[in-house]
Amino acid sequence: MIDVLDVQQSLGAAPELAAVYLSAFGAPGYDEDAARAEEFGNEQLPLHSQRDGFKLVAARSDDRIVGFAYGFTGQRGQWWSERVAEAAPAEIVEEWVGGHFEIVDLAVMVEAQGQGLGSALHDVLMADLPHERALLTTWADDRPAPRLYRRKGWQVLVPDLGWGSALYGLRLR
Ligand SMILES: CC(C)(COP(=O)(O)OP(=O)(O)OC[C@H]1O[C@@H](n2cnc3c(N)ncnc32)[C@H](O)[C@@H]1OP(=O)(O)O)[C@@H](O)C(=O)NCCC(=O)NCCS
Repeated sequence: MIDVLDVQQSLGAAPELAAVYLSAFGAPGYDEDAARAEEFGNEQLPLHSQRDGFKLVAARSDDRIVGFAYGFTGQRGQWWSERVAEAAPAEIVEEWVGGHFEIVDLAVMVEAQGQGLGSALHDVLMADLPHERALLTTWADDRPAPRLYRRKGWQVLVPDLGWGSALYGLRLR
């Protein structure tokens, strides 16, 4: 039910992934719009798919993608790493940022949520990674995503980076 897609398969599935993105992040309280979902499929995913360590996992139900998660090897100089490096304490940045596996997105269609798919996508994404550390940002308030990451053993490194996001880290070795 959960597959690892290579770069070509991921790009081929971009419209389906964008539909999942819109369902998950377009829900009330997340409030992304259709233009942002289109940008995700047409720009963000193609850009990130070229990064070292790119890994995308997709959950299918009745041959339709209903959830996905992806990340890549994060490095200093990249937009997200630099944004985190500006906001986080120097000792956290020194220890964690650069060469980490970065979870960029985890999304499950609204109608498929609450059945364990998000948890399963997380586990397949994180399985067998060669990295020593993993990082992500997620909402600082109480929602399904931060609850899921904490259940999986992620630790809160910075509770609020200043824009409503917390920085989470996980040691993989
Ligand atoms: C975060 C997200 C991916 C989780 O997906 P999901 O498939 O619902 O995840 P799970 O089903 O594994 O877990 C969600 C909840 O369902 C519960 N659950 C899982 N299986 C269940 C079952 N069989 N019966 C009852 N409850 C169940 C979990 O305990 C969890 O409860 P909690 O939210 O109270 O902690 C989804 O909510 C989503 O797409 N959110 C919007 C986008 C987002 O926030 N992405 C993360 C960006 S950092």
